Amino acid sequence: LSVPQINRLLAHSHYCKQRTKPWLEPQTHKPSKKNELRMPSQSLFNKTVALLFSKRSTRTRLASETSISLLGGNALFLGRDDIQLGVNETPRDTARVIGGMTEGIFARVGDHEEIEELAKYAPVPVINALSSLWHPTQVLADILTLHEHAHLFNKPDTKGDTPDYKNMQTSIKSRKRDKITSLPELRPLTVAYVGDSANVLHDMLVSYPRMGHSLRVASPAKYRAPPEVWKRVEELGCDKGIWWGEDPKEAVKGADVVVTDTWISMGQEAEKAQRLKDFQGYQVTEALCREGGANPDWKFMHCLPRKQDEVDDEVFYGPRSLVFPEADNRRWTTMAVFDLFIGRWDVSADGSKE
Ligand code: CP
Ligand code: NVA
Repeated sequence: LSVPQINRLLAHSHYCKQRTKPWLEPQTHKPSKKNELRMPSQSLFNKTVALLFSKRSTRTRLASETSISLLGGNALFLGRDDIQLGVNETPRDTARVIGGMTEGIFARVGDHEEIEELAKYAPVPVINALSSLWHPTQVLADILTLHEHAHLFNKPDTKGDTPDYKNMQTSIKSRKRDKITSLPELRPLTVAYVGDSANVLHDMLVSYPRMGHSLRVASPAKYRAPPEVWKRVEELGCDKGIWWGEDPKEAVKGADVVVTDTWISMGQEAEKAQRLKDFQGYQVTEALCREGGANPDWKFMHCLPRKQDEVDDEVFYGPRSLVFPEADNRRWTTMAVFDLFIGRWDVSADGSKE
């Protein structure tokens, strides 16, 4: 997605949230004509979205099932033991068949090539719900959460490297309809990531620098992001906004936000002992961020599920933590993605169909 498209998805997520949440709350008064609550868009009415999940999920599954329901559609969950895929049938044939009976596929796969194969052969939109390389819907929710908490980042930091992003910032146009407020503007942030170079970080690498933020990453050398990720980072010109090293303290220097993810992603369970050893010293703690010189007001984010290895309880459950609003926002960003990609088949920035 281009930056205007990402911004449109973020603005639409914010709009979906504001328009839908009051509609879900108990009605304590009889709505008058003037303030009558309008139902969320029913753009998935009579449409079915296949949720093709070959790995476990809590947030992504809940976000997709609940948002499809709010959009008036039908969510068809197909777990790895439910269908013929991988046992009696190829991804190519499965993609064609599922696409012949549904209007979209939201797929959580192992190897990233599996989703490329699905997208190649499905006659309907295929959206990535997590693969070995990427987790795009997670990072949309993360950026939405940062915008919604923009007021917490009003003190510019002077310690970190602050590149000139003047020309990279894209303003998000206000949307006054239904008295809905526009998504708050966010100043350029220094975002630190400490831990494993996995799918969530990879999407941060191709998003944050383009959105005007600088990214500082600490990960052990042997876990450096794979070449296909760096290729994409360079194609998008994001490499200029990334500092990469091995020292967690160096990475959190000047950080407004500190982010991490599990050290053992789904499918890597056999590497657990080695990984726990390799990531010693990478746990996010108050001490690490103080000693590394993070912005004193730094905030914490994590895609979840979380283990204590990568972040201690003091940070995870403390006042810096945005992890639960971040998890809640999975629903609204997923709703915006489905509404625009499957309901209306339109994610262009200027409103034209594509
Ligand atoms: N963050 C995330 O994708 O969580 P789940 O694996 O529970 O969906
Ligand atoms: N990196 C993690 C993210 C889980 C949402 C994994 O792939 O398991």
